[in-house]
Amino acid sequence: MASTCLLLLLTFFFFFFVFPADAESPRQVYIVYTDGVSAGKYATSSAHLEILEQVLEDSNEASESHIYSYNEIFTGFAARLTNAEKQKLASAQNVVAVLPGRKFQLQTTRSWDFLGLSTTVKRISQVESNLIVGVLDSGIWPGLESFRDDGLGPPPKKWKGVCHNITCNNKIIGGRSYYTGDQPLAEERSVIDTDGHGTHTASTVAGMEVGNASFFGLAEGTARGGVPSARIAAYKVCWKTIAGATCEEQDLLAAFEDAIKDGVDMLSVSIGSNETKEYPIDGLAVGSFRAMKKGILTSAAAGNYGPHPSTVTNGAPWILTVGASSMDRKLLAKLELGNGQTFMGDSINFFPTQRSFYTIQLGEDDNKKILINNSTKRKNVVLKSIKSVLLAIKVGARGVIWDAEEVFVNQACQLPLPGACLNTSAINKVKKYVIKTKNPVGKIYKSISVHDPTAPLVASFSGRGPVKVTPNILKPDITAPGVDILAAYSLKAPSTDFPDEKRHAPFKIISGTSMACPHATGAALYVKTFHPSWSPSVIKSALMTTATPMSAKENPDAEFSYGSGHINPLKALNPGLVYNTTEIDYVNFLCSELPTKVVKLISGDDVVNCSNSINAYEMNYPTMSANVEPKKPFTVKFPRRVTNLGQPNSVYKATVQSPSGVRVSVNPEVLAFKSLEQELKFQVRVSGGKLEAGEKVSASLVWSDGKQSVRSPIFIYA
Ligand SMILES: *[C@@H]1O[C@H](CO)[C@@H](O)[C@H](O)[C@H]1NC(C)=O
Ligand SMILES: *[C@@H]1O[C@H](CO)[C@@H](O)[C@H](O)[C@H]1NC(C)=O
Ligand SMILES: *[C@@H]1O[C@H](CO)[C@@H](O)[C@H](O)[C@H]1NC(C)=O
Ligand SMILES: *[C@@H]1O[C@H](CO)[C@@H](O)[C@H](O)[C@H]1NC(C)=O
Ligand SMILES: *[C@@H]1O[C@H](CO)[C@@H](O)[C@H](O)[C@H]1NC(C)=O
Ligand SMILES: *[C@@H]1O[C@H](CO)[C@@H](O)[C@H](O)[C@H]1NC(C)=O
Ligand SMILES: *[C@@H]1O[C@H](CO)[C@@H](O)[C@H](O)[C@H]1NC(C)=O
Repeated sequence: MASTCLLLLLTFFFFFFVFPADAESPRQVYIVYTDGVSAGKYATSSAHLEILEQVLEDSNEASESHIYSYNEIFTGFAARLTNAEKQKLASAQNVVAVLPGRKFQLQTTRSWDFLGLSTTVKRISQVESNLIVGVLDSGIWPGLESFRDDGLGPPPKKWKGVCHNITCNNKIIGGRSYYTGDQPLAEERSVIDTDGHGTHTASTVAGMEVGNASFFGLAEGTARGGVPSARIAAYKVCWKTIAGATCEEQDLLAAFEDAIKDGVDMLSVSIGSNETKEYPIDGLAVGSFRAMKKGILTSAAAGNYGPHPSTVTNGAPWILTVGASSMDRKLLAKLELGNGQTFMGDSINFFPTQRSFYTIQLGEDDNKKILINNSTKRKNVVLKSIKSVLLAIKVGARGVIWDAEEVFVNQACQLPLPGACLNTSAINKVKKYVIKTKNPVGKIYKSISVHDPTAPLVASFSGRGPVKVTPNILKPDITAPGVDILAAYSLKAPSTDFPDEKRHAPFKIISGTSMACPHATGAALYVKTFHPSWSPSVIKSALMTTATPMSAKENPDAEFSYGSGHINPLKALNPGLVYNTTEIDYVNFLCSELPTKVVKLISGDDVVNCSNSINAYEMNYPTMSANVEPKKPFTVKFPRRVTNLGQPNSVYKATVQSPSGVRVSVNPEVLAFKSLEQELKFQVRVSGGKLEAGEKVSASLVWSDGKQSVRSPIFIYA
């Protein structure tokens, strides 16, 4: 079951908000991609209106239908169209594609210590404070300690952003909001975050240090972002509407445009959609390509739709696609029974330990019939369904002992009353005790933090590869902490996802690839402070080839779940060699997948030459992956180039690890560099016998000069 924090949140939304009878809207939002590069003829809104007028045959209707024009991330516009109008527009001259606007969802600290970035780690604050991260999310809650600006000068000179309906300071230097959806909003129209998610992600990237931070006393420590001196620009694209939470593609793209124009250095997008579009024509993929051209790396969530195959989102090769893994800190609550037996489970129970042993009753019988009524008041209840939990809260139960494994997969549960969440086998033992004992009693303890030696493990909800449309590019790229992360939270947002929750706190513990993504953004910005001239793909390569390998034994989906492994920002400062994936590499790859017209649209380049098209696995990517036919011998050749960013004179030797049954050879096996930024070529050849359908083979290549190790996973699957 792919349940997540987010899904839970949405579930609650749907429980408690009744959909209004929707007045049949004949028009829906489409994203229209037009010919021509940014500076070209079809880039202005008047040109877009002209195109619309030809189809709608009425200039009033055209301007009413038109929502946004885009000319920075691609040339095109968003408009409300009927199906017939859409058909007509799709065949109009100069229109490349008309695609329905998708709905996106938010992919809902000790974490930086776990990544080796301690409070005393070396930093170049001067450079760090010149970096601006654009966070596309649910807005931001200013005024928190995490967003104070002491020690920070005015915004960098290059900054062109604005602060709409938000009081900025020298930490939060930009704020804009976008909403053109059809449902009425259930919050005010401003950048202010009422959800909490955007505040959490922004503070994870660039929050100031806050000592003694905790979630009602849990996970106590110093909370901080990866780059505490960097600046934040918040672009609010996700909203609460009366029909639930939503982020609309057309708004997301408008924010993308503005962020690039405003002058951000990096983009953090903890948003994904499970409406898979035939990616490369996918607004976010196109937008991030143009950002990449301007030196802006887009770091994005791999999505919370795992653990099934092909659930990874944001899988374009120029995006840093981030999966979620666990941290070495676990939060456990204890239940002690009257007979002395104790059980521990993943729970965020910030309530004080119960003062004495209270009666335990069962909340559901073996046929799932609910046994909770007013006599349950002041008792501890053993239960499983969310319905029972809600009823237990309503009747005033003392606490709950919850079999929450299906709701909170791989993460600690959160409750608005004392609770210990236990696994099914523990719950069965508790039930047995309750049934067999005359006066069954139990005591629920406040959660404690314990060391988890199994970390990092990929979270079950984290999106898995392969990307359906590009099965020969490994995704996700990397994992970062995304389970039970403490970070700043909106004081307007409730502290648990349960209805009528009245508690608010400046911090909250949440899980999701949404939390992993800003860790990767922060790590990438940290690398950028030491190497301001490095391009997005070079930073990405540095992070990927220095990632800590993860194990296929402990993570059965292997590279499909963790890509190159667990992020290590300190190591990424000195990668030795990098795979410089250039714009030409990306274009040559796109040429093999798409009509030239579309490649022009994505690249923003009118003179694309598609005579050198290459397969995805031939692209100069830091990982090597190929999908081969089952039950047939195969040979795959991965041509690659590496650039020396270590010592001028250095000799790197190749080491290959491969399981039996697969042959991996590297030619040449030694690369002798004479200077910095020198680029040398090599080829990896992988051949093997017959893989069964579904079989996966994990191998790896490491280039080493004795100091730096440059590792690439080699992942073949049938
Ligand atoms: C600021 O808020 C007001 C009132 O909610 C709204 O009418 C206006 O459009 C907002 N301005 C911007 C730039 O978002
Ligand atoms: C945290 O709280 C403790 C005790 O309440 C105090 O001694 C300590 O100075 C505080 N640390 C910070 C960084 O505020
Ligand atoms: C269930 O939780 C108990 C602790 O309460 C633990 O000892 C046991 O290993 C867990 N079982 C499984 C299958 O995870
Ligand atoms: C409450 O539920 C229990 C268990 O199902 C039952 O024995 C009891 O009669 C119920 N009490 C009332 C007041 O309904
Ligand atoms: C509990 O008692 C209240 C008031 O006596 C009553 O309104 C309510 O329906 C009862 N709830 C349950 C679950 O029996
Ligand atoms: C495209 O590239 C090929 C090979 O590099 C070259 O021969 C050809 O002239 C180029 N075509 C154009 C139109 O530039
Ligand atoms: C990567 O390649 C681009 C395009 O050829 C080049 O401009 C850039 O300098 C290269 N980066 C490094 C670090 O060598």
